[in-house]
Amino acid sequence: MSQKLRVFATCDIGDDALNILRQKGYDLEVYPQPEAPPKSLIVEKVKSGIDGLITTLRDPIDAEVFAAGKGTLKVVAQLAVGFDNINRADANKYKIPFTHTADVLTEATAEFAFFLMGALARKLWPAEHLTRNNQWGYWHPYLPFLGDEVTGKTVAVIGTGRIGLALIKKCAGLDMNILCFDPAYENHEYIKAIQETMDLRFHRGISREKTSIRYTSLQEALRTADFISLHVPLVREGESGTPTYHLINETTLRAMKPTAMLINTSRGPVVDEIALARALRENWIAGAALDVYAKEPLPADSPLRDPAIADRCRLLPHFASAARITRLSPDPNKGMAGRCVQGLIDVLEGNYGGDITKMPYVVNKEAFAK
Ligand code: GLV
Repeated sequence: MSQKLRVFATCDIGDDALNILRQKGYDLEVYPQPEAPPKSLIVEKVKSGIDGLITTLRDPIDAEVFAAGKGTLKVVAQLAVGFDNINRADANKYKIPFTHTADVLTEATAEFAFFLMGALARKLWPAEHLTRNNQWGYWHPYLPFLGDEVTGKTVAVIGTGRIGLALIKKCAGLDMNILCFDPAYENHEYIKAIQETMDLRFHRGISREKTSIRYTSLQEALRTADFISLHVPLVREGESGTPTYHLINETTLRAMKPTAMLINTSRGPVVDEIALARALRENWIAGAALDVYAKEPLPADSPLRDPAIADRCRLLPHFASAARITRLSPDPNKGMAGRCVQGLIDVLEGNYGGDITKMPYVVNKEAFAK
């Protein structure tokens, strides 16, 4: 390399992956604080002529950033599958490719949604509090409260991309009936294969009840499901024909059964939090488990923190992909950090014959089609 490639990372994504860049002789600067850097610093670094920018979902990457990198910035490599913090239209306008880390967090996120569903339904948090607070006065058939089994219930999987499909596979293992809805994409082959495994489990005596899976309308999914789990990307009005912003709102919450529970591991703005807090307070639905929020970290005055709904509202800190290998492995087929770094290298070193449309982790390939 005649001139060192310069990279700025807005966050420490772990030495295992970053050392790959150091060993290649890149000039790498990592923002040292755990919090996100101010946007003005990102703009300043980009303006200074860096070749690559490593980002996380906390960094707003828009026209101002891309304009600052005009002629010098060659790639933005995001450590996340979701990229709603990156303005795709602006990236395309400046012809700067950006990459993401799909696939390696699919199972981690799906299992987290699955565990949240179980924790919520079986009231693990209030039950542990009872024990810890020394309020466990007796064993009793139904006092002080009961939870609900997940086995045999109906789950609505809203969004059947990678993570939704992985959740389906896990729910089938609990003999759940599965309703699928996706505003943009349906995978009938996968659903057919799951139905075949469900039928086999029943015929071989592994499942006691026959179970089923099918695509349906959002209305039917909301009206009939016991659990509703969200797996759609955040798409704001005007960004595509199928926006998901506030997909869960007063109207859709009121359509759910009063016993239904909502799980959100997708993006916070898919849910109208004010409407959800009210739905929990007024018992329109029975519970919610959230890992993502409109504003992160969750503000101190969020209505979701209302102590009156604490027993039925689980609040997690955007933690679904937070497993050691998932987050930090330098192997691009296992870890977000490895995949992030590889996406950056592909562009900066012109892998795939320098054809950006062939690079597997680039998102906005459309800007580079010949
Ligand atoms: C996490 O939320 C991600 O998009 O990777």
